[in-house]
Amino acid sequence: MNKQELQEEILRLKKEKDICILAHAYQDHELWEIADYMGDSYGLSLQAQKAPQKNVIMCGVRFMAETVKTLAPDKHVFLANAKAGCPMADQLSREDVLELKEKYPEHTVCAYINTTADLKRAVDVIVTSSSAMKIIGNMPEEKILFVPDPNLGGWIANQITEKTFAFSGEGCPSHRMITADDVKRARELHPDAEILVHPECIAEVTELADYAGSTTGIMKYAKESSRSEFVIGTENSIVDHLRIECPDKVFYSLSEKCVCENMRITTLENVYDCIMGTAGEEIILSPQEIEESRKPIDRMIELGG
Ligand code: 13P
Ligand code: SF4
Repeated sequence: MNKQELQEEILRLKKEKDICILAHAYQDHELWEIADYMGDSYGLSLQAQKAPQKNVIMCGVRFMAETVKTLAPDKHVFLANAKAGCPMADQLSREDVLELKEKYPEHTVCAYINTTADLKRAVDVIVTSSSAMKIIGNMPEEKILFVPDPNLGGWIANQITEKTFAFSGEGCPSHRMITADDVKRARELHPDAEILVHPECIAEVTELADYAGSTTGIMKYAKESSRSEFVIGTENSIVDHLRIECPDKVFYSLSEKCVCENMRITTLENVYDCIMGTAGEEIILSPQEIEESRKPIDRMIELGG
């Protein structure tokens, strides 16, 4: 089957088999085209609850599929490519968090959604890049232990100065590849461009940028801005999407090194094979895991709106 035939077959099969396909913003455009919903991590979480279908296929990474299963435990949830993990999500385990809680007994533990379902069982609240400011701003607690991305956490801490923050974890290896020199070089090469970055970038990068926000935040900003040139500092797939969606604007990559192999491995063939039951992986979580990991996710939705 060529690409179009494969897409048409997937669209036919998903109706026949009552499947909702969710795609994260970093997925290839050809996956967006067969998805029921495309979005950032927060949008995907909300969509998981709303989807009327009995089956969900996640084109993204494992923690996203686990979040869908937690929020929609009665659905069959599949990760289209079982190898798609998130290296940041594997940096800290639940046991690490339990040890940190002993070290920081007065802190409320706030975890980025890019964590395992098992880790989520031990934390107080989850945030995403697009919801973090609102959620932490709305929380009455003043001492926050933020895991596992000190860059996103530091970006929040710089704006919510009335709270105190502690950090653990190393952050996203792909976004950490972008340097302040990349921003300075981009300013020289493209003086009329706005520089839009993800808050997973290091502080020196977000401080020099014109805008920091989630994947869909970056795309919305570029689409709505009256400017016509942009330098994009996040996974390079967003540059490809913006070039397709805004053909009258010009987009440059801030660093060719910001590539997430895990986000890139899912293909249309994987989705087809997953529907046919020959590939992909059904996410299985025990009732106890679901109950415990859901509490901080529900708090995210309650505080994030
Ligand atoms: P958002 O889409 O929520 O901005 O997250 C980016 C990311 O790194 C997901 O893995
Ligand atoms: Fe994880 Fe970074 Fe890849 Fe997102 S871009 S999935 S945070 S490694």
